[in-house]
Amino acid sequence: MAGLYIHIPFCKQACYYCNFHFSTDQSRLPLVLDYIVQELVSKKDFLSHEMIETIYFGGGSPSLLNKDQLSHIIESIHSNYHVAEKPEITLEVNPDDVTSDKVHDWKDVSINRISLGIQSLHDDDLAFMNRAHSSADCMRSLELLLNGNAFEISADLIFGFDGLTTEKLQFNIQALASKEIHHMSCYAMTIEPKTVFSHRLHKGELKEMNDNIVGEQFTFVRDELLRQGFEHYEISNYCRDSKFAKHNTSYWKGRKYLGVGPSAHSFDGKKRYWNVANNAAYISKLQKNQGVTEEEVLTNVDRYNEYILTGLRTKWGVSMSKLKEFGSEKYQYFQQESAGYIEKQQLIIHGDKLTIHHDFWPVADRISSDLFFVNE
Ligand SMILES: C[S@@+](CC[C@H](N)C(=O)[O-])C[C@H]1O[C@@H](n2cnc3c(N)ncnc32)[C@H](O)[C@@H]1O
Ligand code: SF4
Repeated sequence: MAGLYIHIPFCKQACYYCNFHFSTDQSRLPLVLDYIVQELVSKKDFLSHEMIETIYFGGGSPSLLNKDQLSHIIESIHSNYHVAEKPEITLEVNPDDVTSDKVHDWKDVSINRISLGIQSLHDDDLAFMNRAHSSADCMRSLELLLNGNAFEISADLIFGFDGLTTEKLQFNIQALASKEIHHMSCYAMTIEPKTVFSHRLHKGELKEMNDNIVGEQFTFVRDELLRQGFEHYEISNYCRDSKFAKHNTSYWKGRKYLGVGPSAHSFDGKKRYWNVANNAAYISKLQKNQGVTEEEVLTNVDRYNEYILTGLRTKWGVSMSKLKEFGSEKYQYFQQESAGYIEKQQLIIHGDKLTIHHDFWPVADRISSDLFFVNE
């Protein structure tokens, strides 16, 4: 069981908080797509013994692609990989890209899951973030996508930014949860380097958010979504009717995946790989038959630390027997460092499984880092 990730590094405009790899100059889009297909063909051996269960178009804004561009990529996946009978195929969609024609096209090319970037249903918040859409676009796009029941739908929201009140957050959640959507990803806003927000913060033009307020909003989001029938299964992810995001869950469970396109990452159980995060360099290197991918061999300590970090962010937690497989030195270290947290019931044991008590999910990364093994 494995996943394929395709990174489409283009957007209409730059959101002020985002430092994912994208360009607003779309002139290189056709060429990047040609090389993405070339990369899919040249790297097919990476997953030659695996069944592809999930395909994920992320970005950037993959909803900018037209039907031919999407179907060309999907056909090349089918001709070069072993694809499961009904793979989960997700497309990240910006609300301003949704038209009824595009919805039909997505259905036709067998996309069956949409991750819709709503972020907020308030125009002042959307303008503050420099999103390219209005709140009305969000609801219009959601209705078009719901019509015909062709997709599992996930909606993304952001909280923890200046100007967002509890009342606005409640409106956002209730308006979305009242629709037939199956999944929500709710992220606390982070101020990333090289973004407009980071620049404004350094100039004193943007207020830094108080951790307590962000923590309160996290709990508010969680309580509201639980009341609306969602299950909280990863720090930022909620689903109804057990419709977990299969692709992302594979990342958290340490399964193999191949990522293609500028900046995409891959993992084969032993090594991590990452592609150059520059569209011009990606094209020119592939034109010259040069590699675009760097790699790092993960040590036993790296794998132990990653298992702790990703496992403790989920409701599945970490398994004690799996921790033992990293060797007695790390297991003893884990037992010693986790004892205090277990005593304070911040970490909870259920049989072989250890999870973080949900009240402490907002500080999960801090707890995990205390359990990291550091080589002397
Ligand atoms: C990188 S975007 C790609 C999908 C699509 N272009 C969109 O904007 O919806 C995926 C998600 O990452 C989240 N995101 C990106 N940067 C973030 C940040 N600095 N803080 C919180 N969430 C962020 C947003 O919620 C966004 O929906
Ligand atoms: S959040 Fe999405 S639309 Fe905005 S810049 Fe990032 S990738 Fe592009």
